[in-house]
Amino acid sequence: MRALFNTILATLLLSLMASAWATDEDGYDLWLRYRPLEAAAKARLQAQARSIVLTAPSSATTQVAVNELQRALAAMLGKAPALAAKPQDGALVLATPASLLELRDELSQLGCEGYLLRHTRLQGHPVTLIAANSDIGLLYGSFAWLRAANTGAAMDASIDISSAPKLQLRLLNHWDNLDRTVERGYAGQSIWDWWALPDIKDQHYIDYARANASLGINGTVLNNVNAKPEVLTAPFIAKAAAVADVLRPYGIKVYLSARFSTPLELHQTSTADPLSPEVRAWWQRKGDEIYRAIPDFGGFLIKANSEGQPGPQDYHRSHADGANMLAAAVAPHNGIVMWRAFVYAPAPDAAADRAKQAYDEFKPLDGTFASNVLVQVKNGAIDFQPREPFHPLFGAMPNTPLMMEFQITKEYLGYSTDLAYLGSLFEETLRSDTKQRPQGLTVAQVLEGAESARGTGLTGMAGVANIGSDRNWTGSHFDQANWYAYGRLAWDPQGSAHAIAIEWAAQTFGADARVSTPIVDMLMLSREAVVDYMTPLGLHHIMGTGHHYGPAPWVADLERPDWNPVYYHRADRKGIGFDRTANGSNALMQYAPALARQYADPHATPEQLLLWFHHLPWDYQMASGRTLWAELLARYDSGLVAARDLHARWVKLQPLIDARRYAEEEQRLAKQVKNAILWRDACVAYFQSVSGLPLPPGVRPPAQPLEYYKALRYPYAPGRG
Ligand code: GCU
Repeated sequence: MRALFNTILATLLLSLMASAWATDEDGYDLWLRYRPLEAAAKARLQAQARSIVLTAPSSATTQVAVNELQRALAAMLGKAPALAAKPQDGALVLATPASLLELRDELSQLGCEGYLLRHTRLQGHPVTLIAANSDIGLLYGSFAWLRAANTGAAMDASIDISSAPKLQLRLLNHWDNLDRTVERGYAGQSIWDWWALPDIKDQHYIDYARANASLGINGTVLNNVNAKPEVLTAPFIAKAAAVADVLRPYGIKVYLSARFSTPLELHQTSTADPLSPEVRAWWQRKGDEIYRAIPDFGGFLIKANSEGQPGPQDYHRSHADGANMLAAAVAPHNGIVMWRAFVYAPAPDAAADRAKQAYDEFKPLDGTFASNVLVQVKNGAIDFQPREPFHPLFGAMPNTPLMMEFQITKEYLGYSTDLAYLGSLFEETLRSDTKQRPQGLTVAQVLEGAESARGTGLTGMAGVANIGSDRNWTGSHFDQANWYAYGRLAWDPQGSAHAIAIEWAAQTFGADARVSTPIVDMLMLSREAVVDYMTPLGLHHIMGTGHHYGPAPWVADLERPDWNPVYYHRADRKGIGFDRTANGSNALMQYAPALARQYADPHATPEQLLLWFHHLPWDYQMASGRTLWAELLARYDSGLVAARDLHARWVKLQPLIDARRYAEEEQRLAKQVKNAILWRDACVAYFQSVSGLPLPPGVRPPAQPLEYYKALRYPYAPGRG
């Protein structure tokens, strides 16, 4: 009794103390969450930022940099440092080579966006230098220094960091519609208030720009790839121009998704054939019109001949014909075209393999695209699944710049309810070895242009945004980490998801290791947990129809074979999995010979991709010694155990986290446990109905009969656009 009383008292005291020091937070500040430092840290930081000196010419961008430093330091130190004209002891000096001749050579290695942070002496004074070749480099350097300050690294008196982005185009893709709905968006409405624009420019746009610039994101496609023709009419160009004006000082260019048949649908041409002079002239004029309103307009993103969207193939022209026509319209203005490789024609029969189609259509076009075109390829060949092998186009088109498309919004990974840190997923793809070179060639190296048989030098990455009008931007606090990780990996595709998680947690929840370390552990466990309770061992696309939420491996009646989960898992009495070897669809042939040879053997295929590439009998022996059937059940169970573990870890952190963020995430993690139970039970019930096998001893039977799960519906699920 007494022990219980003491525990209750201790818990009460802890939460009282916690609420005294942890004021409620709504997440709006993201990782740019500058909070007062404790005395010792404050003194150390103060010594390095007694004043701010801008020796570079002033511009809108340098102003933004200085403002951000002042705002952050005022919050962390209690007082903004004064601006000074000349270096003095302990100053934070922003400089370009014009005023810093001695660093000219070193800076020339860092390109126009790189930066250098260093403790040094200037004119006899010890200073902290933020140096770059351009004002945008100074802004990136300022954010990098603040990141170091927030994670403790800037306290180190010998700071010496230089960094330059490895990719030129680091973009967000908003799948936002003009009516403010967001396709696959789970964080409220679109942040773009098209109706109110161009006259009313929401404060959100500025804070969006700050957050993106802090990561080095330098472009944003404002509207859905399933684009409407109206976005290219004068009123919407004016609205996009207003957004561009807000984002410009932060180094962020605006791009638009364009519908291929726009001129035809606006009744301004008689066809949309890319080779028709009338059509070419229309796009040329449209390009000129856009650039008059937005002189630094980035260019177009195009989804064509995919999922019912119009495209050049409607006129028996190729993707290259279509892309090059648009490229010609923006080339005079230095614009680019990002042409998506996410294409799949209706599969004529269940024997065809949707996974092969993008490669089949694009590989033969290698080298035929104009120099200002990039082909934008999703990380995997199906569609943003919890786990996919890397897309076989990476490494297979050495004469075409390929741009990565990741999905930050969690269409297939539990929306903004389930915790799944995508840094792990992105890193897994980026580090995959395409085996296109004997010495190895990772996907990251392909993106960086390492194979460079090509001369254009265009490189890039796109992330389908998870940002919306929700107060915390991304629907859940943890989903902010996915935006963050995407941005950091777009800057350096060889970066580490774990290191990024550490940075994010320290900035978002504070540097106290009792909080940040367990949060990092949760992040690092989370994605594999989701894979295990949804699609273990290489299973894929067994989610509910249309909304893609919740399990539906039984669906077999959709009009196209390749929309049905049964098409992907192919489970029957004898076994399970999609045979993509030479005995099946032979999709393996699209990979480099060394990889194709390895994966042709199920025993040499990583178990996490086993059923992606192989159809195997239920009694196939796994490395664990279990049969495939028993292993599948064990994975579903371990996914559920991991989901429960994530929740339990969070509950332990309650005394140390502000009440609002704690409660908001606690509810989501509890819901995630329910989701994991549902996925596990529904899949066990279904696969058992197909295999006819008994559950091994100790495996809990599903709570409900299969018919119960089949009858579940999700009307009005968000994200349908
Ligand atoms: C997925 C997604 C669609 C999206 C499409 C695309 O299929 O479900 O909403 O339009 O990808 O990437 O174009």
